[in-house]
Amino acid sequence: MKNKNPFSLKDKVAVVTGGQGQLGAAFVDGLEAAGARVFVADLPGAKPFRRGEKRKIVPIDVTDEHSVEAAVAQVRRAAGRLDIWVNNAGIGLFTPFETRTMAEFDRVLDINVKGVFLCTRAAAKAMAPRGGAIINIASVYGLVSPDPRIYGDSGRNSSEVYGASKSGVIAMTRYFAVHLAKKNIRVNAITPGGIFNHQAPFFVKNYTARTPLGRMGHERDMSGAAVYLASDASSYVTGHNLVVDGGWTAW
Ligand SMILES: NC(=O)c1ccc[n+]([C@@H]2O[C@H](COP(=O)([O-])OP(=O)(O)OC[C@H]3O[C@@H](n4cnc5c(N)ncnc54)[C@H](O)[C@@H]3O)[C@@H](O)[C@H]2O)c1
Repeated sequence: MKNKNPFSLKDKVAVVTGGQGQLGAAFVDGLEAAGARVFVADLPGAKPFRRGEKRKIVPIDVTDEHSVEAAVAQVRRAAGRLDIWVNNAGIGLFTPFETRTMAEFDRVLDINVKGVFLCTRAAAKAMAPRGGAIINIASVYGLVSPDPRIYGDSGRNSSEVYGASKSGVIAMTRYFAVHLAKKNIRVNAITPGGIFNHQAPFFVKNYTARTPLGRMGHERDMSGAAVYLASDASSYVTGHNLVVDGGWTAW
């Protein structure tokens, strides 16, 4: 019988980069719950965000072309196909721009921008000729500046280069949506707002007060968006940036 649930990912093979991390693990859970076979790709030795969790990892360094291609090949050998790729691996940086080192600047761009490029190029090749779905994880700071008031006088603030990298992710999402459309590959982004991870109480209070839905995000809040963008439910959606931020950017 034909599968009538448009959100079903039954028989689909997915990869989540940075799948050991806070959001990555939630994307893995969500895609698996929808029926996909999911490979967790991460740096060798990356510690699971959820302590004690043991998952087999496909080793990948998203900044290294050869490592990315080897990871894609490993998944193809194991599963025979590739349908969904989530570019989730990424890092933040919270030190002042006045003292920014070029090594810090380059590292953020390498992982957050070059990593998305290398993985998209390799995954798209592996998705042919069937097509597939690529999902890039951006950030509200790719859309708007951090509001310095919520960081108070802590000396911490999300950085200029992080924002630039996530704007770059959104731009690349549109570029690849257009340039991979003929190959039946849809490319979309998810833009999460701030996710609770035991930040300092003053920060949680300030962030919450500025969020229309009145709380920080939970990683669970993100996985439905990934299932939607990975599945036939979004079959006519490409180049979109799905903002999941509790309304943070709505005012
Ligand atoms: N947590 C938030 O509040 C938030 C908000 C908006 C966007 N994001 C974005 O969501 C994504 C996941 O963030 P998170 O909070 O879960 O972070 P996290 O640190 O918990 O997880 C990131 C994962 O990426 C992996 N990684 C880092 N460098 C890598 C590399 N070179 N190659 C392969 N893997 C690498 C890490 O090992 C880790 O498992 C990131 O792109 C981040 O920018 C997070």
